Amino acid sequence: MITAVKGMNDILPGEIAKWRFVEETARKVFSLYGFSELRTPVVEKTELFSRGMGQDTDVVEKQMYTFTDKGDSSLTLRPEATASVMRAVIEHGLLGQEPVQKLFTIGPMFRYERPQKGRYRQFHQINCERLGEAGPLSDAETLALAYEIAVALGLSGVVLEVNSLGCPACRPAFKKALQDFLEAKKEGLCPDCLRRMYTNPLRVLDCKVETCKTAVEGAPENSGYLCDECRTHYDTVLAGLDALYIPYEKNPRLVRGLDYYIRTAFEMTAKGLGSQNAVGGGGRYDGLVAALGGNDVPGVGFAFGMERLLMLIPDMAEEKKGCFIAALGENTKKEALKLAAQLRRKGIRTELAPEKSFKVQMKQAGKSGYPVCLIIGDDEMAAGTVAVKDMKTGVQDQVKQEDLLKRLADIVR
Ligand code: HAM
Repeated sequence: MITAVKGMNDILPGEIAKWRFVEETARKVFSLYGFSELRTPVVEKTELFSRGMGQDTDVVEKQMYTFTDKGDSSLTLRPEATASVMRAVIEHGLLGQEPVQKLFTIGPMFRYERPQKGRYRQFHQINCERLGEAGPLSDAETLALAYEIAVALGLSGVVLEVNSLGCPACRPAFKKALQDFLEAKKEGLCPDCLRRMYTNPLRVLDCKVETCKTAVEGAPENSGYLCDECRTHYDTVLAGLDALYIPYEKNPRLVRGLDYYIRTAFEMTAKGLGSQNAVGGGGRYDGLVAALGGNDVPGVGFAFGMERLLMLIPDMAEEKKGCFIAALGENTKKEALKLAAQLRRKGIRTELAPEKSFKVQMKQAGKSGYPVCLIIGDDEMAAGTVAVKDMKTGVQDQVKQEDLLKRLADIVR
């Protein structure tokens, strides 16, 4: 048997109702906020991600699905959407047409991680990017949008954690203080963090290795190192959230796994997800468009992990409106085929029974979950009627063909 690639999952028909619910709910909320959808290819030039996400990030160092194509180009399956969206915006000059771009995209991402509950090698993100506004209230509104999606999905127990990571002016002082602190804790650090403490010390704060978690206890917090502009920006973001009654927790230890963030960083966590408890995260990334060859345009955004959102939503049965048609006797099959086509043309979902015995057809009707089964036999054909069986009550009655649509109106739509 050939199986799916490890960490990559099929989404089976029984799960689709939930996926659609999540996607459609997100689309509705994005639309309320004036966002437009775009879709980018799943494969990009490798350089886009190494330049965009930062060389010292786990994603770029270890997790990219990179390959050389037949034309000798190094390509990568996108590990996130932000860099791709930036590329598309720059390539198509979208900011020249409209200096504020509010965009979202939904689709699969790929990271070579160790698969576990809530962590996969192909996963899906609902991704939001907002370009062209530097002001803190655009951060607040973007966080509010993320929160509204969680509310619209009916998630409970979700916590919005917020921090400010400072900017290129004030972060070096914090990095230095953190490095000095870590120098004294070296023996507790994992090999990755021993390297990272020089290349990207903020990442040490986010390491999941137990000894590293202990080592960073009491580490300096960047809130003490923010410059005046970052401090004001952060305070205004929080005031914006207060004005919108969005609950949040300040988490001075919050850092992000990707390098492009400045100032606002946030994560949404949920209870009941185990160790992979971040359902979404994001923040401000003012230098990214310029780093990828565009103008110096500020940006803020976030992404939700769809699989993690789905784990928090109860199972949903697809609501089966419409009807099932069974044919009793050989001569009636064509009539059933025609009736099904007529009903579909009227917008009624109609499924034809398999060409099997009547007993099997009725068994299938029972399993199918439709509220109504229409039965056509020789008697019905002769009388120009259809038998309408209510699958809940089992009650069956004869309806004239011309009255059928009226009879079905309330039940099947
Ligand atoms: P990220 O934190 O790397 O951010 O990913 C966002 C979310 O994607 C995570 O919170 C998690 O729910 C989900 N996720 C990440 N990796 C996996 C995985 N291996 N399996 C399942 N779910 C996963 C970004 O990707 C940024 N591009 C977000 C952003 C957009 N920032 C600004 N704009």
